[in-house]
Amino acid sequence: MLCISIKFDAGRNFMRTTKYDKIKHVIYFSKPTLFSEKTTDDILEISRKNNNKTNVTGALICRSDLYFQFLEGPIEAVEKTFQKIKLDTRHLEINLVKEDKTTRRLFASWAMRHDPVHSWMWTREQVQNGILSQITPEQAFATFERLSREVDQFN
Ligand SMILES: Cc1cc2nc3c(=O)[nH]c(=O)nc-3n(C[C@H](O)[C@H](O)[C@H](O)COP(=O)(O)O)c2cc1C
Repeated sequence: MLCISIKFDAGRNFMRTTKYDKIKHVIYFSKPTLFSEKTTDDILEISRKNNNKTNVTGALICRSDLYFQFLEGPIEAVEKTFQKIKLDTRHLEINLVKEDKTTRRLFASWAMRHDPVHSWMWTREQVQNGILSQITPEQAFATFERLSREVDQFN
């Protein structure tokens, strides 16, 4: 099941003004346990509520076989959020791919953007065969960077 496109603008809000502050980003992938539209909606609802409070932004790419998430924001807020996410039973096999300090946000106006796995990403077969366990931090970042450029272009 793909994530639904008409909901993509939900979660968009004002541009964060932390451009020059020290922030952190985290990229991980995981496997959904009970994937459904309701589960995805629940995750996005709590994510946007919490992230708006903590100044965390990012994007969640999802498909029934995959979560691939980019979190960015104040260092402590991102770390606390990721700690909670790791304990969440709605997914398993959580693999951290990249965590770095930075000064630039990719999704500054998104409390949590929601995307399907795009055609230029990975097929189900590739995911099943473990392609993501070989992804480098640079490749993972490039995926979200490309997504953020497309967001800028089409929204
Ligand atoms: C794939 C996935 C992504 C999530 N992303 C976020 C997120 O960006 N921010 C967030 O607060 N919670 C996120 N959650 C939910 C957390 O695991 C947790 O349920 C939530 O933060 C608890 O919020 P509370 O402490 O306000 O009860 C995510 C969960 C999953 C399964």
